[in-house]
This record gives sequence, C-alpha cells and structure tokens, in this order.
Amino acid sequence: MTSLTQLTYDHVRKLTLNEPTGHDWWHTLRVYTMALRLAKQDFMYVDTEIISLAALLHDIKDYKLTGGDEEAGPKAAQEWLSANGASDSLIEHVVSIIRDLSFKGKVDRPMKTREGMIVQDADRLDAVGAIGIARTFAYGGANGREIFNPDIPARKDLSPKDYKDRTQPSPTLNHFFEKLLLLDGHYHTALANEIGHQRHLYLIEYVETLLKECDALDGTHAEMLKNLKK
Ligand code: ADP
Ligand code: NI
Repeated sequence: MTSLTQLTYDHVRKLTLNEPTGHDWWHTLRVYTMALRLAKQDFMYVDTEIISLAALLHDIKDYKLTGGDEEAGPKAAQEWLSANGASDSLIEHVVSIIRDLSFKGKVDRPMKTREGMIVQDADRLDAVGAIGIARTFAYGGANGREIFNPDIPARKDLSPKDYKDRTQPSPTLNHFFEKLLLLDGHYHTALANEIGHQRHLYLIEYVETLLKECDALDGTHAEMLKNLKK
C-alpha cells in the first residue's frame, strides 16, 4: 500500500463509519478488497494505486446522499488528492473513474480504462447477492421507504433522469427490478461475471420467496420475475 493509499484509507474510514444507507465504510472496504481481487487477474497491466484510490474515494459524497449534486463526489475526491500531493495525471484518472462509475439506471456504463472497469465491477458486486439485499433494505429503511407494496409495480426501462428522481419514492423491493436484477452478464471482467451470476441466482430465489410469503406470486412483480428468468 502506498503512503497516499494508507492516508486515504484512514481518512475515508473516519468519514464514513456511521453512514446509515449501505454506503458506509464496510461497503467501501468490500469494494476495495474485491477490486484488488479482480485486479489480480491482470495485475501486469493495471495500476493498483489508481484502483485502490478510486475504490476508497468512490462514495465519499454520493449524489444520492448530497441532494442530487453529481459533482460533489468527484470534487471532494479531487480536493483530497490535491491536498495530499497527488500528481495531476493520477488525480485526473481517479476522478474520471468516480464520475463514470455510477449506475443511474443504465447497465451499460462504459468505463474508459481497465482500472475503471475493475472498480465498477467491484462496486456492482456489492449491490447483488446477500450483501446487496442487506444494503438495499438499509437504504430503504434510512429513507423511510415501504418494504413491499403489491399495488406499486416496479418501473421498466427507466431513463437515467427517472432513476435518479427521488421525489417519487418507490417501495424497496422495486429496486431489485429497477437495478439489482439487471446487472447479470454486464460486468467487464470474467471473474466478476462469474461471482455476479451466482449472486444473481440468489437474488432471484430471494425475491421469489418474498413474493410467495406475501401471497403476491400472481401479481405484476411475479410476472416480471418470470420474464427475467427467460
Ligand atoms: P449508484 O450510486 O452507483 O448510481 P445506486 O443508485 O443504485 O447506484 O446505489 C447503490 C446502492 O444503494 C444500491 O445498490 C442499493 O443498495 C442502494 N439503493 C440505491 N437506490 C435505492 C433505492 N431506490 N431503493 C433501495 N436501495 C437503493
Ligand atoms: Ni459504492
């Protein structure tokens, strides 16, 4: 670990420890660890300092948590890196990864560099599987959302604008259909696709069980789930 990475690690840890919406330090640490694991596949070709810094700084000021300001995160990362003597080229690379990373309703979000692809894969893997489920309900709870409402179907083919629109809060289960279940097969690295697919199967089983328990297996959500399995 370089000394800048160590400094950043300690800084982000302090900054995010008590974050209540699933974007806390433990999310960041998992993304950091997973990104380095994915990077091992092509470690000859990628810059692990860039990967580490982008993973550590990617959620310090998420647009969802800062009233919709999409520049708050990249700006905070840039300020931190320049205050700590990083070179212009390093700052530019890390900040551009953070800017491009976010899902915002689209599975195909091209990343400019291999480092960016790896950090995006790692962040997305933390949105699926058992941990993804936990984070999603933490986000819903922290935002006062309903868990499930059979009368409010999930929205299909959301535009980035509608995805980001937080003025019409939808029940948390809908987020599975609006993001989590759409990620399968859309990772950049082979290992992320493999891990992501296992986590996807777990999500499907979970949503099916939840709908069954809620006597909603013949509703719109069940129909959407059936279509996803095809
Ligand atoms: P990004 O921040 O990359 O644009 P998201 O907006 O989907 O991606 O946020 C990351 C995580 O935050 C999601 O994987 C999920 O756990 C949680 N989250 C975001 N929006 C919602 C939502 N509407 N309902 C429940 N969880 C959400
Ligand atoms: Ni994240």
